[in-house]
Amino acid sequence: MPLKRKMVLGSNWKIYISSRDEARTYARRLKQELKTYDTGIVEAYILPDFLNLDAVSGALGSLPVSLGAQDVCWEESGAYTGEVSPLLLKEAGCKYVMLGHSERRSFFGESDEDVNKKVLACYRNGMVPLVLIGETREERDKDLAMDVIKTQLKTCLDGIPADFLRELVIMYEPRWAIGCKDAASPEIIEISHQMVRRGIEELYDADVSQAIRIIYGGSVNLENAGRILSIPDVDGLGITRASLDPVKFAGFIRITEKEAKKRRKIGIDAGGK
Ligand code: PGA
Repeated sequence: MPLKRKMVLGSNWKIYISSRDEARTYARRLKQELKTYDTGIVEAYILPDFLNLDAVSGALGSLPVSLGAQDVCWEESGAYTGEVSPLLLKEAGCKYVMLGHSERRSFFGESDEDVNKKVLACYRNGMVPLVLIGETREERDKDLAMDVIKTQLKTCLDGIPADFLRELVIMYEPRWAIGCKDAASPEIIEISHQMVRRGIEELYDADVSQAIRIIYGGSVNLENAGRILSIPDVDGLGITRASLDPVKFAGFIRITEKEAKKRRKIGIDAGGK
């Protein structure tokens, strides 16, 4: 029986893997290591940089790992120097597009309004947005984390129809927990994911909030992944550093598969679409 919320886990390469050779070698090694996994309960994705999309796609071949981009332009065409059109990403085989990563927000000035325009571009072009939300250290210290999350959800998802929202993936990634030694504590992750689900329920309804996948990102490693995935409202993981080795990434997929099987067995989320 399929899970109502198929678990999802992915590797965002940023620009760590920046040569085409390295990208191909990664994908081939992953294929060798993984061979296959239960795609009825888990979906894995890789987000290479734009220029490695085709190299990765070719080297993955029939391995059921989805491809995605780390950003997109909010318009299909026009005077947007340096941007990449959603039409091109679609043509390159992207299923996912990551939007609103903390680095895009802090280094490139991306706002929730920008993210919203890009979510709409994904909607028009049939790609699944991975929408990143999360508070800074300062916002957490001032006890503003929950308000920030709610505002981000409201603005980033403005005008998105409920049917599309069911397919979308939200990644809760506290901005202070990226690139660190440790992930956020299980308590913070649990409360925040519950908040995100409640926020979606307030904006839409209980049905949509139960369907949407909410994954966690920020200093996930092979030691803490199982513990984080055992939190009921966590539907997967987004990883960078610890996933840059394809053997380790295959390890993350196995850990997620194990958790998804456990959920199916005890009936959590079972019996969905
Ligand atoms: P990290 O990065 O896994 O290296 O902490 C996560 C991210 O930036 O999304």
